[in-house]
Amino acid sequence: MDLRTLQQERLRATLRRAYEHVPFYRNAFDTAGVRPEDCRTPADLPRFPFTAKDDLRAQYPWGMFAVPEKDIRRIHASSGTTGTPTVVGYTDGDLDTWADVVARSLRAAGARPGDRVHVAYGYGLFTGGLGAHYGAERLGCTVIPASGGMTSRQVRLIQDLRPRIIMVTPSYMLTLLDEFERQGIDPRTTSLEVGIFGAEPWTEEMRREIEERFALDAVDIYGLSEVMGPGVAQESVETKDGLHIWEDHFYPEIVDPFTGEPLPEGALGELVFTSLTKEAMPVVRYRTRDLTRLLPGTAYPEFRRMERLTGRSDDLIILRGVNLFPSQIEEIVLRTPAASPHFQLRLTREGRMDRLTVRAEARPEATSAQRAAAAAEIARQVKDGIGVSVAVELVDPETLERSVGKLRRIVDLRSAPSAPA
Ligand code: DLL
Repeated sequence: MDLRTLQQERLRATLRRAYEHVPFYRNAFDTAGVRPEDCRTPADLPRFPFTAKDDLRAQYPWGMFAVPEKDIRRIHASSGTTGTPTVVGYTDGDLDTWADVVARSLRAAGARPGDRVHVAYGYGLFTGGLGAHYGAERLGCTVIPASGGMTSRQVRLIQDLRPRIIMVTPSYMLTLLDEFERQGIDPRTTSLEVGIFGAEPWTEEMRREIEERFALDAVDIYGLSEVMGPGVAQESVETKDGLHIWEDHFYPEIVDPFTGEPLPEGALGELVFTSLTKEAMPVVRYRTRDLTRLLPGTAYPEFRRMERLTGRSDDLIILRGVNLFPSQIEEIVLRTPAASPHFQLRLTREGRMDRLTVRAEARPEATSAQRAAAAAEIARQVKDGIGVSVAVELVDPETLERSVGKLRRIVDLRSAPSAPA
């Protein structure tokens, strides 16, 4: 069966399952005046209503599930930091599918059966650790379930067990890099050949930095708990040109983030997913808030690619009317030789003016004159390239907080709660 026919069949089955088993979807479809059978081809999907994170919150904890509670084999939660959490559930069948798509992702990244895989994504409610873990086992790899944290022990494990593959957030990989150097070990001498990085935005400049300093191939993995977890899309190590979406399980659309209108192939917009095979928690037109564009497949021509994420609409900083994403600052900081890849964006308010300060750590070898020149250079490039004035401070090495999982890049001090009386 060709992919289009398969997607059509699976799409109809998902819509039927959602309508028949989840009152939330039944109400939403009824209100929009659509029935599952109105979706004859994927082109009909835009007639169906979106699902947003707030809908999942409102249904917390069990309202989105399409199967009896006894058939839910596992629960995970999304990494939301504020408000009601959202939980997601998996049947045995879902866990099987998930392991398959992660195994496929690992293969695309260059992993092979028999490889040792060091998993430094957090284990627990976060989908990163366990998602990566079962996928690596499914492929026939030996898994080292290190989880996040205890950085010096991570280095020891990598030295002793000699994994070929590491799966970790790119920011924690930088923390590991520092630890190797602190222990006097040249990171280029490790056994690591492939790093599979995701769960947070990173740039081509960061890829270059990690690849050069570790002498490995760095590839991108994408996913989100509401849709499954890691393994929704994966970059191929052969082409390193964005992430192929496993479209036999996840149907992507790109919409205008403001109006919700579908955008033509190739346009930059918000990524929306409809699950095609999920049993416990089918999602229909789930708005990810992630901004990217869809491109034709390359290494896997049957699947479309998504471009490396520009950022999340939630991370968009609007500074005195100018839109900017942390990734744009990352590109500039990493192009500046005296600055290290560790930086933070601090938002403050002075009177009615918002102010952004880029705090980047200097490289240990940078002199004070080089630091001052680098700060001025970053400010100039932000002004010329993005069109807004920011303050830049080059701080001492090892002074900014290190990531052990997902990095918090933006420190927003504009509405800091006042100190308790
Ligand atoms: O972060 C799943 C995951 C784990 C993906 C490990 C890859 C590796 P959540 O905690 O639900 O799930 O967060 C999902 O993280 O909507 C994106 O904003 C962001 N994200 C995930 N992968 C990437 C990536 C996991 N490769 C949210 N590049 C998503 C940029 C990413 N952002």
